Amino acid sequence: MRASGLIFLAILWAISSFEEVRSHGDQPLSKIAIHKATVSLHDGAYVKASPHILGLMGQNTEWVNLEYSYPNPSIDDWIGVFSPANFSASVCLPENPQTEPPLLCSAPIKYQYANYTSPKYKDTGKGLLKLQLINQRSDVSFALFSGGLLNPKLVAVSNTVAFAYPKAPVYPRLAQGKIWNEMTVTWTSGYGIYEAETVC
Ligand SMILES: *[C@@H]1O[C@H](CO)[C@@H](O)[C@H](O)[C@H]1NC(C)=O
Ligand SMILES: *[C@@H]1O[C@H](CO)[C@@H](O)[C@H](O)[C@H]1NC(C)=O
Repeated sequence: MRASGLIFLAILWAISSFEEVRSHGDQPLSKIAIHKATVSLHDGAYVKASPHILGLMGQNTEWVNLEYSYPNPSIDDWIGVFSPANFSASVCLPENPQTEPPLLCSAPIKYQYANYTSPKYKDTGKGLLKLQLINQRSDVSFALFSGGLLNPKLVAVSNTVAFAYPKAPVYPRLAQGKIWNEMTVTWTSGYGIYEAETVC
C-alpha cells in the first residue's frame, strides 16, 4: 500500500515536471539555424580539445578543455559539440528530390558562445572553454562557427575525443519487482548479450 502510494506520487511528480518543461518555451538548440550552415574552414582558425581520451578512471561524465582561435572574431561566434565526431565529412542525401539537403547532416548536441568564459574573445580571437560531456557511446568533436546562430559558418573543427569505455553500463534504475519483496535493478549497456559478462 505504501509502495503504491509512493509510485503514484512519483508518477504525479513526473507529469507535473513534464508540464513545466513543456511550458518553458523554445528549446535552446532550436535557436540554431543548422540547415543554413555553410562551411568555410579558415587556415588560421583552430579548436583543440583535451584530453583526447575521457573517462580513463571509469567515469561516464568528464570535463573537456577547449582552446580556440579565429583571426576574424565576432561577438556571436559559437562552439558546437557534435557526436559522432566526423559530422563535417558525412554526406547527406535529399529526403525528396525537390529539396536540397543541408550541408551539415547533423546538428550540435550542445553549444556555447565563444566568449562565454573569454570575454576578450571578440578582440583577441582567442578563447578557452570547459564543457562537460556525458558518455553517449560515440566520439565527439567541437566546431567553431561564426555568423551567429542564424547564419552559421563553420570555420574550424577540433580533434576528436572519445570515452575510453564507450559501452560501459550507465543509468542504473531501481524498480519494484513482481512480488512485494522483490526489487529490480536495470541499466543501459552498449554490450551485446554475448559480449556481456557477469562479475560477482
Ligand atoms: C557574448 O556573446 C553573446 C552572444 O553574442 C552576447 O550576448 C554577450 O553580450 C557577449 N558577452 C561579452 C562579455 O562580450
Ligand atoms: C563517418 O560518418 C559516417 C556516417 O555519416 C560513417 O558511416 C563512417 O563510418 C564515419 N567514419 C568514421 C571514420 O568514423
